[in-house]
Amino acid sequence: MAAGRIFLILVVSSLCFSCLATRTVKTEILRDPNCTEPCRTEIGHVQATGQEDTLHYLITNIGIPTIYVLRTNTINEPNTSVKVDWNKLASENTTERSEAITFPPVIQIFYSYAAMFTRMFEYNDTLDNADITKYNVNNTAWNVYNFADFDWDDLSNASDVNSNVINFMISSNMSESLGNGTISLKIQAFDHGDRENQLPHLQYTENIVLFDLVISHISTNLSASRFVVEMIMYSNSTDNMEIKTTASIDDEYTPGVFKISNWLTRPTNQAEGCFIQWKPVCYQNIPRGRNVATYVSYYGPSGLDSDQDMMKLVDRSILGAFEESTAIQFRMTATNFSFGLSKDGGYTSKNYTAWSGTLGFGAPPEEKVSTLVIIIIAAGLGLPVVIIIFGGIGVCVKKQTGKQKKILQEVTRNYPGLN
Ligand SMILES: *[C@@H]1O[C@H](CO)[C@@H](O)[C@H](O)[C@H]1NC(C)=O
Ligand SMILES: *[C@@H]1O[C@H](CO)[C@@H](O)[C@H](O)[C@H]1NC(C)=O
Ligand SMILES: *[C@@H]1O[C@H](CO)[C@@H](O)[C@H](O)[C@H]1NC(C)=O
Ligand SMILES: *[C@@H]1O[C@H](CO)[C@@H](O)[C@H](O)[C@H]1NC(C)=O
Ligand SMILES: *[C@@H]1O[C@H](CO)[C@@H](O)[C@H](O)[C@H]1NC(C)=O
Ligand SMILES: *[C@@H]1O[C@H](CO)[C@@H](O)[C@H](O)[C@H]1NC(C)=O
Ligand SMILES: *[C@@H]1O[C@H](CO)[C@@H](O)[C@H](O)[C@H]1NC(C)=O
Ligand SMILES: *[C@@H]1O[C@H](CO)[C@@H](O)[C@H](O)[C@H]1NC(C)=O
Ligand SMILES: *[C@@H]1O[C@H](CO)[C@@H](O)[C@H](O)[C@H]1NC(C)=O
Ligand SMILES: *[C@@H]1O[C@H](CO)[C@@H](O)[C@H](O)[C@H]1NC(C)=O
Ligand SMILES: *[C@@H]1O[C@H](CO)[C@@H](O)[C@H](O)[C@H]1NC(C)=O
Ligand SMILES: *[C@@H]1O[C@H](CO)[C@@H](O)[C@H](O)[C@H]1NC(C)=O
Repeated sequence: MAAGRIFLILVVSSLCFSCLATRTVKTEILRDPNCTEPCRTEIGHVQATGQEDTLHYLITNIGIPTIYVLRTNTINEPNTSVKVDWNKLASENTTERSEAITFPPVIQIFYSYAAMFTRMFEYNDTLDNADITKYNVNNTAWNVYNFADFDWDDLSNASDVNSNVINFMISSNMSESLGNGTISLKIQAFDHGDRENQLPHLQYTENIVLFDLVISHISTNLSASRFVVEMIMYSNSTDNMEIKTTASIDDEYTPGVFKISNWLTRPTNQAEGCFIQWKPVCYQNIPRGRNVATYVSYYGPSGLDSDQDMMKLVDRSILGAFEESTAIQFRMTATNFSFGLSKDGGYTSKNYTAWSGTLGFGAPPEEKVSTLVIIIIAAGLGLPVVIIIFGGIGVCVKKQTGKQKKILQEVTRNYPGLN
């Protein structure tokens, strides 16, 4: 009995350790009060307030879909959040535009980082080997989609602020021009730690947001079509970025996937940097399952100093609206992600691709044996041992107290007057 109770306490405390909330998270959509429907320039603002610091996420399709995160001090006073000057934000003058987003002077910025979705490439994989390094502009057919040219639905229309979800969804007009298909990018913040409730079950915490990219039923004129998505990562630090791929255990969360990758902004100081984490798997149908899983390859990270087109995209993004982000020293790298595996039929076999990743501050979560597995192993091996030990102690104690009782009885028998 005692052993059982101690075991239960152990289990409950280990489970609750991961559910202790350390940040309060609230989400709002900022929009120009003068703006009429459809507005098209909105900013999802997720504020994750902790004891030591606050993470301000500015999630917007202004320019290109961007998640820009500013880590600041925590000031528990009203009117100490981010302010947007919408007239300046709309300005063509880069100096003016760079003053559009401000914080009051009491707010101190410790660090900032960003993930940007720049372009989507579609290529005709005539060799069916799902490797973009085999192709150039001349040896196959390409369609290039620049996310800056996309017409996205209003964020307030497609998002769910109560669940801390900001959703980029192409507008119905844009959808029609793509044969009634959809492209969406969902970003979700959390006030607790857990795993996403669908495959590949990536881990998240209150320092991490989850992103979900879906390319669904868009028409294509390439019969052997495959997609590539290009991303930029920005960091307010001069460290060299790196992608590290490690073997992960074949866990119960993503069966059959043995790798996990982290694109790190500060590989030698991970606790003070940020990361994008993903597993090399995407899904060709809903519901996501092992039978519709295919591979995700990456090509990078590479610098983009020489790529003027890319720099222009960054300037037109929300980063260009915050003076400090370009005034101070920073690093930016870009990476392509391609979806598919030789002989998986390519995009047109299902006309659907869904890929998930996380963006977070601090050292990325590592895959380890889950609490549940530990409990099962503990129950299998440990419990009998615990029972034997506690059982043994119990028997000894009983014997001891039995002996003492006997002595007492003898004493009281000999001196009946004592009672
Ligand atoms: C809204 O428009 C009016 C008139 O053009 C202008 O005076 C005001 O500053 C605008 N408000 C904002 C928040 O931009
Ligand atoms: C905060 O700002 C609002 C509107 O900008 C204002 O009405 C309010 O008085 C301010 N509160 C404080 C404590 O400054
Ligand atoms: C941009 O705005 C700044 C400050 O308002 C001004 O000094 C500068 O002349 C403007 N530049 C152009 C090209 O209009
Ligand atoms: C960048 O980091 C420095 C400290 O390293 C900080 O002083 C500055 O405010 C930060 N700026 C931004 C935009 O993150
Ligand atoms: C794409 O590749 C397929 C298979 O190799 C080929 O039949 C088709 O003609 C190509 N389409 C274009 C537009 O190049
Ligand atoms: C593609 O073809 C053009 C014209 O023939 C040539 O100038 C260019 O260098 C080629 N590009 C590559 C990557 O081979
Ligand atoms: C809002 O979303 C619905 C469907 O999700 C769409 O039909 C409608 O056009 C959207 N409205 C605006 C203003 O974008
Ligand atoms: C879609 O396009 C039509 C015509 O070009 C335009 O009138 C309408 O406002 C657009 N709808 C949205 C939601 O952008
Ligand atoms: C897309 O949907 C609209 C309205 O339902 C329809 O008129 C149009 O033909 C569709 N386009 C394609 C390419 O299926
Ligand atoms: C996917 O779309 C293409 C045209 O865009 C079509 O030819 C093909 O049959 C579609 N595949 C499926 C499985 O619906
Ligand atoms: C294929 O479709 C794309 C995008 O719809 C278009 O830009 C391109 O010209 C088309 N290519 C061919 C060979 O028809
Ligand atoms: C991604 O791939 C496209 C097509 O090959 C290429 O033009 C682009 O430069 C690549 N981007 C990066 C960051 O490597």
